[in-house]
Amino acid sequence: MAIRQVVKIGDDVLRKTSRPVDVLNRRILTLLDDMAETMYAKDGVGLAAPQVGVLRRAICVDVGDENGLFQLVNPEIIKAEGEQEGMEGCLSIPNRHGIVKRPARVTVRATTRAGKPVEIEAEGLLAVAFCHEIDHLDGTMYIDKQEREVTDEELAEMQKENKE
Ligand code: NI
Repeated sequence: MAIRQVVKIGDDVLRKTSRPVDVLNRRILTLLDDMAETMYAKDGVGLAAPQVGVLRRAICVDVGDENGLFQLVNPEIIKAEGEQEGMEGCLSIPNRHGIVKRPARVTVRATTRAGKPVEIEAEGLLAVAFCHEIDHLDGTMYIDKQEREVTDEELAEMQKENKE
């Protein structure tokens, strides 16, 4: 496995539509593993293949809950309900955060790294992470959907509250 370079905002690759994965060959499996390693190395909760410069429909998500790591190809949201609003950041948009509205609950249909078709029901932060990463596969970033930018002062305040 290897840590890959994360593409930053301004690079065209982040605005393109990714192609479906038709075969889980060694190249795709290595991609999924490198993406997980890169995500953990950068303290992210998710990463999409275009963020490492690969236009394939592959994502990794780990929000630090009991579900652990998801490594998925061809993920799609087949059901979305309710609404939640929260702060998001993105490894491709360093040092910025925004408030974004997302569905409260989603059902994601995908294929796992092992080639198994799955339907995953997610809520809270996990639902946000899936929405955020799947958006990347169609060239959409959270800044396109954000209600507003979070200021540095607000961020410092939130981090202080989390520590207390
Ligand atoms: Ni992102």
